[in-house]
Amino acid sequence: MNKMQNKNWWDGSVIYQLIPRSFSDGNGDGIGDFKGLTNKISYLKWLGIDIIWLNPIYPSPLTDGGYDITDFKNIHPDLGDLSSFHRFITVAHEHKIKVILDLVINHTSYLHPWFQRARWAPKGSPEREVYVWSDDPNKYKDAPILFKKFESSNWEWDEEAKQYYFHRYLRQQPDLNYENPWVQKQILEVISFWIGKGVDGFRLDAVPFLFEKENSRCEGLPETHGFLKKIRKHIDKEEKNIFLLAEAIQSVKDTRQYIATDELHSAFNFELTAYLFAAIANGKVNNVKNCLNDSQKAISESSWTMPLRNHDELWLGDGNLIPQHVIQTICTGLPQGMGHWLNWGINRRLAPLLNGDARPNKLLHAVLYSLPGIPCIYYGDEIGMGDWVGLRDRDANRTPMAWTPERNGGFSSAPEPLLVLPSITSPGYNYRVINVEVQKTLPGSLLNWHKRMILCRKHLPALSNGDFHLLETNHPSILAFTRSNKTMNILIAANFSRTGTSFYIDLSNWGNIRTREVIWGSEFPHTSKNWFCYLPPYGFNWWLLGEVDK
Ligand code: NOJ
Repeated sequence: MNKMQNKNWWDGSVIYQLIPRSFSDGNGDGIGDFKGLTNKISYLKWLGIDIIWLNPIYPSPLTDGGYDITDFKNIHPDLGDLSSFHRFITVAHEHKIKVILDLVINHTSYLHPWFQRARWAPKGSPEREVYVWSDDPNKYKDAPILFKKFESSNWEWDEEAKQYYFHRYLRQQPDLNYENPWVQKQILEVISFWIGKGVDGFRLDAVPFLFEKENSRCEGLPETHGFLKKIRKHIDKEEKNIFLLAEAIQSVKDTRQYIATDELHSAFNFELTAYLFAAIANGKVNNVKNCLNDSQKAISESSWTMPLRNHDELWLGDGNLIPQHVIQTICTGLPQGMGHWLNWGINRRLAPLLNGDARPNKLLHAVLYSLPGIPCIYYGDEIGMGDWVGLRDRDANRTPMAWTPERNGGFSSAPEPLLVLPSITSPGYNYRVINVEVQKTLPGSLLNWHKRMILCRKHLPALSNGDFHLLETNHPSILAFTRSNKTMNILIAANFSRTGTSFYIDLSNWGNIRTREVIWGSEFPHTSKNWFCYLPPYGFNWWLLGEVDK
């Protein structure tokens, strides 16, 4: 079906997302920083990941976890400075790991000098027009409110300006006015600045919302695509092979619009994420299959980036991403998510959401490691880290990485009350047990499983660049497909049922050839029209097809 080849450096990569202030503290002040992160690059190399995605690193009052920037061309002092960033990126590159930055282009902090200048500038002046102002708070009333827990309007009255300003997120995050060429120029300059500092790409935050138009949801307008195309042209001019990844929490159909040879290279497939959780919730893969078909039809290359969880709530939307009844399925089928709804989804980390069960956790990751696209792992999920329910906003999912059984999980030598967020001590997830050091020593740990899967994926290039074909089975819980390139054919089957399952896969297209299970090398029966198979609860397997007898 697809003609995939690894033509870009990011094809076939695995992304590791981390929050620098929660990852590793190098100076003992209780807050993660670039010094600490640099010391951990060898761990990330050991794990086998290819790209580090850094959550926002810029100066910010941190009202929204750094997605409220006050200076686009600097480093938050808690994390270090430009020279510690330089040291970090140099070491990452020495380890052949690429670095992409989270860049927030839709809005700034209200404390950004541009906004403070805008409020004081006369109405209609160029300085004022850097943001979106109105005398009427009913303008753009069809634009949904995104942070429903915190805001009841997309407009905020400014006493100084004597006007309302527009903010799709918090009132502390005024939207930039992209109608203004000056704004566009500044953002392009920011991109050049960081390219000059050696970064390999950008995760562009909230891309759908750059422009506004009356009688629309103000999402993905043609003008927005126009500016994203300008960004692409701008980076192509620099000839540095920069990777552009879109964050657009929309359906495959809408998100697909951002990926183009003259726009962005990749986008998160949040629809697939939601359907994967639905499949765990009710043991049925039909929606996953349809979504995979749609995703492949939409882009016949391995361009989707595939997360399970990230630093936000597990976004399920208001019916615009997946239908309401599927949202219901997820909410009732994953009881650990109940009572944790925030804004548009479930505010829990992966392991606790799955009730600490490593089997569905591995299954979901295994599916990501097998699909065309770029798997995206959220820091801590590789060890099944827990969350701290009850912390403010989405902080429950952003607590310090657990490195060792020592104090503060080895994250920091600071006294505990100084930590950026508390280390996880909840039953079953206590850092004394769930941490990198302990799991490294246990051959059967989740961490060692990830390492082995990432390694196998590298040794089986068809998993990153092979064509993708869904297969028919006789069981609603089984997802089966093949990945094939010129040198190998891999059969993948995943059981989303909580019970062991026997089933048949239609392998009639393959005739009668040899099958060999990848991880242990066990021989299975030759392929046939109804190929019989058994998988344990949430079981999963890779087989090589059609190997020549040695
Ligand atoms: C999406 C980010 O993932 C989220 O954390 C942030 O709050 C919003 N964009 C606003 O920047």
